[in-house]
Amino acid sequence: MPSQHNDIIERIKNLKEKKKAVILAHNYQINEVQLVADYIGDSLGLSIQAAKTEADMIIFCGVYFMAETAKILSPNKKVIIPDKKAGCPMADMINAKQLRELKVKHPKAKVLCYVNTSAEVKAECDLCCTSSNAARVVEKGFAPNEEIIFVPDKYLANYTSKQIGRDFIVWDGYCPTHARILADTIKKVQKAHPKAKVIVHPECRNDVAEIADAVLSTGGMYNFVRDTEEEEIIVGTEVGMIERLRRDFPKKKIYPASDIAVCPNMKKTTLEKVLWALEEEEHEVIVDKEIADKARGSIERMIAIG
Ligand code: 13P
Ligand code: SF4
Repeated sequence: MPSQHNDIIERIKNLKEKKKAVILAHNYQINEVQLVADYIGDSLGLSIQAAKTEADMIIFCGVYFMAETAKILSPNKKVIIPDKKAGCPMADMINAKQLRELKVKHPKAKVLCYVNTSAEVKAECDLCCTSSNAARVVEKGFAPNEEIIFVPDKYLANYTSKQIGRDFIVWDGYCPTHARILADTIKKVQKAHPKAKVIVHPECRNDVAEIADAVLSTGGMYNFVRDTEEEEIIVGTEVGMIERLRRDFPKKKIYPASDIAVCPNMKKTTLEKVLWALEEEEHEVIVDKEIADKARGSIERMIAIG
């Protein structure tokens, strides 16, 4: 009901002001959650916002590893996640014990972990990266002949390896949502829209990345659509991104590479849950101090690289 909806938005705004809270939302959040956010972005952008915000409280609308990263970067702020069950199946594909075992097998290797990992895993790594800066982080953060373990996303690792001509010790992790985007499906969409450019996320399968015009983080996709002269763009990532692009660039024709690329965890956050998070502050994100202190350096060094 629209009036009830407006009432929720009003209550969110008032509480946000009263509690000096900031709402950070990932690009895959549902439309109505994005619309109440102070900042919408990709993992790197959200980490930067979390590190620099002057608010007392962060309501993090995304998945758990993102909220944990915000807490690690802003340990003195209260970080609340509206739905504590909003996890990331890819992040859960490796735990700290498994990473320690891998390090024992490769004692000389340095460890690069994708931001889609738990705080415990980040505490075991040398550097962190996101989908927007993996190649840059490797080139600026490691010596040229250093052996590197890259966890957990095999598709991002393989894509980065091809980009910069460097091999990694790769973990067999992947994103179940992006793995649903197939090259054949994209080719069908291209047939219907032959003039469209194809942009995909590096979490997509490597054969999907190969047929794309550009491989970009969700923030990179936003900038691409904003800056390009092209009118039609096929977008291969989680469908929430499509909604944001269509909302912000109504003159462009944005086609999803696949309608079934839906991340159920990103969709767990609703407007009501954002309000309850502000009212009750129930699901506070806590990261053990020792783990946070160990993990922080790898994230801060990544932010410094950019
Ligand atoms: P971005 O950092 O590109 O937004 O990616 C985050 C993510 O989880 C993609 O599935
Ligand atoms: Fe994790 Fe994939 Fe969902 Fe991103 S889209 S949060 S990688 S499951």
